[in-house]
Order: sequence, then structure tokens, then C-alpha cells
Amino acid sequence: MPTPTVIAIDGPSASGKSSTAAAVAAQLDMIHVDTGALYRALTWLALERGLEDAAAIVDAADAGSLHLTPRDRRLIVVAGENEDDIEEGIRSERVTAGVSAVAAMPEIRSWVNRRLRVAVRASGGAVLDGRDIGTVVFPDAALKVFLTASAEARARRRLVQRGGAPEPEEVRLEAELLAARDRVDAARKEAPLRQGHDAILVDTTDMSFEAQVARIVELARDRGLPLG
Ligand code: DC
Repeated sequence: MPTPTVIAIDGPSASGKSSTAAAVAAQLDMIHVDTGALYRALTWLALERGLEDAAAIVDAADAGSLHLTPRDRRLIVVAGENEDDIEEGIRSERVTAGVSAVAAMPEIRSWVNRRLRVAVRASGGAVLDGRDIGTVVFPDAALKVFLTASAEARARRRLVQRGGAPEPEEVRLEAELLAARDRVDAARKEAPLRQGHDAILVDTTDMSFEAQVARIVELARDRGLPLG
């Protein structure tokens, strides 16, 4: 089987990775995978079933409850034989609050990485966004981007996305929360958030969404991607 073409977009929370990766994938006619969704899905399952132990969580996921499936040029996580959409559940506040702890467990990380490698190989490649895609999951990715922006810029974008024009104090508080989450993700022992030595830094603090997508598409085209 030929090596899959992988574009890895890693970076801190609220850096716009998922929407950027989706737009890049659409322009390059590739599949998009939001890898955080898998950690969220395992956290959702753990909460639904009252499971705390990593082995019990992956056993439950293996029993057929959770898998990746192609939908509209994306691989999404679904639950059960009927492939139920769990998008709403995995984006809930409860899951957001618990996901960092679940994502820090080595057994959980290897389950996610195995699933990702199998699914991406079967699809012939993908644009993936996450924290450790270029550093751990696909170290041979054809293009690795580290997408970031100042905590304040990320906080403002997130608040605007939720609706309304945020007050400076709101932005400051949200930026503090994001910076604290970055520190947890960067300090964890398993696959910490960091820019790989071969990843290209794209700092979007002063960039529009369209410009950051265009920059990554240009980097991909410079490398002759997608292959085939
Ligand atoms: O991007 P997100 O907020 O949906 O990610 C959810 C959690 O999963 C977050 O705590 C970081 C973690 N994550 C990870 O550790 N590795 C990835 N490749 C993707 C997400």
C-alpha cells in the first residue's frame, strides 16, 4: 500500500486548527480529521458509563461503541452499530472539562494513535489537526505546521465566535484560561504540546483566516502535495 499523504497541523487550543485544517483539506481535495474529537469521544464514553480506568475506557470503545467513519470528506467519530452522531455530546462543557485528564493517559493515547494510523492509511492520506500529529502520530508527515497565535488573539476569536463583542476584561480572563490549558498540555509527560524541529511555524496573531489557509495551501503546493 502506498504511503499516505499526511499534512499535520498542530498547535495550542483555540488556535483555529480545526477550521483551518478543514479549509486546507477542502482546497487540496483531501480528507480532514479533527483528532481532538477522538479524545473527546473517549471522555464522553467514560462519563456516560462512569468509567475512570484507561483500560476499561478502551475496552468499552473497542467493544464497537466508538469508531471513525468517512462523512463528507471528513473522518468523524460515531458510536455503535448505527453510527450515531455524538458531535453534540463531545463538545459539551462536561467533556471539555474532563478531556485533558483522559488525554494524558498513555493507554488512551496509544488507542487513539492506532485508530488514526489505520483510518488514515485506509483513506490514502488526510489533513489532521491536533497536538502531537507531526511529533508522534505521523513523524513522516509530508508537511508539518505548528499553528499558533497569542493567547489574547485566541481568546478574542473564541469569544467572538460565541457571539457578541467581548469586553477587554472578558478577553483577559479567557486568555488566562487558555494559557493555563497550554501549560498543562505542554507540561504533560505523554506527547506534550510542542513545535517539532521540522514543523513550520505559522503565527496567525495578525493574520486573517483566509490568509492562514492560503499560507498552508501554498506550503503544501510547494512540496507537490497532495501526492498522486
Ligand atoms: O482540540 P480539542 O480541544 O478538541 O482537544 C481536546 C483535548 O484533546 C485537549 O485536551 C488536547 C487533547 N488532544 C491531544 O492531546 N492530542 C491530540 N492530537 C488532539 C487533542
